[in-house]
Amino acid sequence: MNKVYLTRPLLPDFDDFINVSKEIYETQWITNMGEKHNLLEHILKDELKVSHCSLFNNGTTALLVALKAMNLPVGSEVITTPFTFAATPHSIVWNCLKPVFCDIEPNTMTIDADKIEELITTNTSAILGVHVYGFPCNVKKIDEIAKKYNLKVIYDSAHCFSTEIDGVGIGNYGDISMFSFHATKLFNTIEGGCLTYNDDKLEKKIYNLRNFGIKNEEVVEEVGINGKMNEFSAAMGLLNLQIYKEEQNKRKKVKEYYDDRLSKIQGIRVPKMPDNVTNSYQYYPIVIEDDYPISRDELYDRFRGNNILVRKYFYPACSDYECYRDDTSIVRTSLDVVNDIKNRVLCLPYYGDLSIELLDKICQIVE
Ligand SMILES: Cc1ncc(COP(=O)(O)O)c(C=O)c1O
Repeated sequence: MNKVYLTRPLLPDFDDFINVSKEIYETQWITNMGEKHNLLEHILKDELKVSHCSLFNNGTTALLVALKAMNLPVGSEVITTPFTFAATPHSIVWNCLKPVFCDIEPNTMTIDADKIEELITTNTSAILGVHVYGFPCNVKKIDEIAKKYNLKVIYDSAHCFSTEIDGVGIGNYGDISMFSFHATKLFNTIEGGCLTYNDDKLEKKIYNLRNFGIKNEEVVEEVGINGKMNEFSAAMGLLNLQIYKEEQNKRKKVKEYYDDRLSKIQGIRVPKMPDNVTNSYQYYPIVIEDDYPISRDELYDRFRGNNILVRKYFYPACSDYECYRDDTSIVRTSLDVVNDIKNRVLCLPYYGDLSIELLDKICQIVE
């Protein structure tokens, strides 16, 4: 059997992409805030229901700039979750800030807001939450804590394109949010990402930081970076915007199939999206409980033996990385839930064109 991957990139009709590429060739403007870039940025504001959106060449650079734009004191601490992709804590360190890992909630697997306060010191400047697999953090409680201690809030929303909480676009929470448009994401621009925020003053700052800190031809105002999205990526995004909802509808059916078969299996827990949250359909995680006959790793091996490339997202946790694990100022509290979940979670193949035969095979393996 051919290898079955966790996902497949959403790709528009090839001829459509060729046609828009021809348009770009004709303009001779292939990067640096071109026409397609500006159009995508504009349309995304509506799509994500936010007042400001700034495009980037990838989500990681966007997160670097998000932290930079918050003007946090050098060396100050950012409370975050270790149950995430490497880019989250690495972006903190690249900003000369210190990540401090907080435990997670067992159900949403997002940062446990009830455990944040005990980690706050006079040196804490921000909270960086991750809406992991599209499950929103406890945004209300995090907002209360941030107000009480005067902290900035940054969200890594890499997994939740189009997610809404009670009809509000998830990119409206906190001071600033980052979305990833990597090829593996529901909505992709090949590589790409964006920042969303409501503070008008941030717009110019982010524009400059994304472009080396250049204010004008003769003035470089601050230490920026090259975070610009090119025209071909923007064109891919404009085309994918037309088809991502269709992909979501297909994934909804895949989810229903999985839910139906897997929820009947003893020892398999399927984390449930809260009723007031719209699912982005980015990942399909399952949790292997104690009463399942084999361990997560054994199940993983069985899938791999069948050429089905499930993923242990997020194992290892970031708190296990060599660069973080021995620093007691970073890992300074017990991470019991993280250390339990990281050994139980498994993400199953999830894309619209998964055939019924494959879905059946995947479920049979778990059964
Ligand atoms: C939670 C999380 N944060 C950040 C990133 C980084 O985004 P990018 O790959 O667009 O740089 C990813 C994945 O790619 C991610 O899963």
